[in-house]
Amino acid sequence: MEDSKKTRWRAAGLIALGAVLATAVALKTKQYLEGPTAEPKPPADGGGLRIDATDAVLVSKGKALYAQQCAACHGANLEGQPNWRERLPSGRMPAPPHDASGHTWHHPDALLFAITRNGLVPGVTAPRGYESDMPAFAGKLSDNDIVAVLAYIKSTWPEKIAAAQREVTAQAGNRR
Ligand code: HEC
Repeated sequence: MEDSKKTRWRAAGLIALGAVLATAVALKTKQYLEGPTAEPKPPADGGGLRIDATDAVLVSKGKALYAQQCAACHGANLEGQPNWRERLPSGRMPAPPHDASGHTWHHPDALLFAITRNGLVPGVTAPRGYESDMPAFAGKLSDNDIVAVLAYIKSTWPEKIAAAQREVTAQAGNRR
């Protein structure tokens, strides 16, 4: 090989090596910033999401979506499945009510959004290894639709319950 060609090959080799090293450093930095990849992210229950249950347009859109998408399991009147506190033969939990008798209102808006969008994700919105029949609606409902459904559910709560859930939502937002 001529000398000038050798030099060019060597230069190309160094550039390639440089690129590989730069990528490795970038990946390591990303991993450092995001934490170890094997660990789940902290529960998505903080966030500043506030869903306005007094928006009449949003609520009426949500009411229709609830009937189509949620009522089959959570009940036409948000009453949940019968004996919803007892495990099914499968070992999984039935669908709980979304009315004042359930525990939906114990959760901040951001967590309700995350559960509806992604289902109960083990290590994120449920304990590790948790199995659930709650479907993820991400591919079925837009984020706006999910907000509308939750606005409808929230709009049905008596003021005392609604106020308690607003407080839970405000506190979750403040933790961030
Ligand atoms: C196929 C049945 C099914 C459908 C349809 C369904 N859910 Fe669920 N959902 C469940 C079950 C079962 C649970 C309880 C999960 C568990 O604890 O394992 C649940 C739990 C939830 C929870 C958590 C409640 C809490 O107090 O922890 C929310 C929020 C929720 N569903 C919202 C919705 C919304 C909104 C819709 C409609 C867009 C919907 N679900 C449609 C079965 C369903």
